[in-house]
Amino acid sequence: MKTTIAEVHKYVDQEVTIGAWIANKRSSGKIAFLQLRDGTGFIQGVVVKAEVNEEVFQKAKSITQESSLYVTGMIKVDERSPLGYELLVTNMEVIHEAVDYPITPKNHGTEFLMDNRHLWLRSKRQHAVMKIRNEVIRATYEYYNQNGFTKVDPPILTGSAPEGTTELFNTKYFDEDAYLSQSGQLYMEAAAMALGKVFSFGPTFRAEKSKTRRHLIEFWMIEPEMAFYTHEESLKVQEEYVSYLVQSVLKNCKLELGVLGRDTSKLEQVQAPFPRITYDDAIKLLHEKGFDDIQWGDDFGAPHETAIAESFDKPVFIIHYPTALKPFYMQPHPEREDVVLCADLIAPEGYGEIIGGSERIHDYELMKQRMEEHDLDPAAYDWYLQLSKYGSVPHSGFGLGLERTIAWISGIEHVREAIPFPRLLNRLYP
Ligand code: 4AD
Ligand code: MG
Repeated sequence: MKTTIAEVHKYVDQEVTIGAWIANKRSSGKIAFLQLRDGTGFIQGVVVKAEVNEEVFQKAKSITQESSLYVTGMIKVDERSPLGYELLVTNMEVIHEAVDYPITPKNHGTEFLMDNRHLWLRSKRQHAVMKIRNEVIRATYEYYNQNGFTKVDPPILTGSAPEGTTELFNTKYFDEDAYLSQSGQLYMEAAAMALGKVFSFGPTFRAEKSKTRRHLIEFWMIEPEMAFYTHEESLKVQEEYVSYLVQSVLKNCKLELGVLGRDTSKLEQVQAPFPRITYDDAIKLLHEKGFDDIQWGDDFGAPHETAIAESFDKPVFIIHYPTALKPFYMQPHPEREDVVLCADLIAPEGYGEIIGGSERIHDYELMKQRMEEHDLDPAAYDWYLQLSKYGSVPHSGFGLGLERTIAWISGIEHVREAIPFPRLLNRLYP
């Protein structure tokens, strides 16, 4: 019976054949242990000299790392293995012999591994992170589909830039200038006026000259937008959605979290509601913690976010930032000129901002004024301005950064491992 490692539980004490690669190997005179992987998982294959013919045992002894093969054997329950099963090998048919695979089980430096990302993806840890990424994607669609949202795909080639004009990738659009999307938000606002509750899920691009463990040049963002939702109602969606993601990974990726050595007790606490702190109080908190140089009106850097997050055991919303720190479209606080109805959601354990969101301006005159203040080209933004002219309603939305969320849930050090082929400041290959 041909099967996969993910399905072996169905074939206990039966003979199966699996298409696989050799992840690792060790052998003695009498027995060989093959770490087999097939994309669906990892299983140990045991080849006992006394129980197979000599040719099979010699193959097992000489086979090289990352060679591909069809391996046949009996599935046995094995309490000691994380999978719970092992394969008692009876036959091996080598498909392709790999020569001098560069990523050996010894330790390699990060640059070397990044140069070999196309191969590094095969490792147990990277496999686990990609499986967690897949679960976060699956749970995202499930959450929004269960809650009455319609998926809308905003364009990637755009003429307008919602998040400021300094971090744009330019390209030619025949004779016109175009930019790679930094955020689909403006289009999602248009879509919300047509479909009520919408979400997007796509790649976004930022030409940020930042080289930190939280920044990618190309990253994926989930951007929900909701007509008739206040900022407060949007915060409820955000905390429910993030809790849903974390609880889904805890439930469906036990093996992967184990491979990564993730402390899951911290993730178990991630259940809505999440604490909130105003920007004003966050400044006070930072002063209490000895950050003397930060003043009201300054933006937070990574050390500030980490220090704020340390005071809470769940993700924390920092609400009501100064107007001057945020983009043009945010709705002012009803009682204060100087702050807006917005929130950044800061993940625990130093992972930083995973969501940025706000209520949006829906007053035509105010929107026009803000666009002028921000020097936005009226020709490029006329379509957006029209949204507040025809049946404008209060609405709110947010963007969750997929890779930062995955890095946090997986407990990995750097966002570069949370995406299959990261685009970084100095890296366009592989
Ligand atoms: O806070 P940002 O810039 O918000 C927006 O783009 C809004 N227009 C979203 C909206 O309201 N629809 O980005 C949203 C999130 C951040 O919180 C962060 O998680 C992630 O996107 N992000 C990055 N992730 C990796 N690398 C980068 N360079 C990122 N920049 C932002
Ligand atoms: Mg932000």
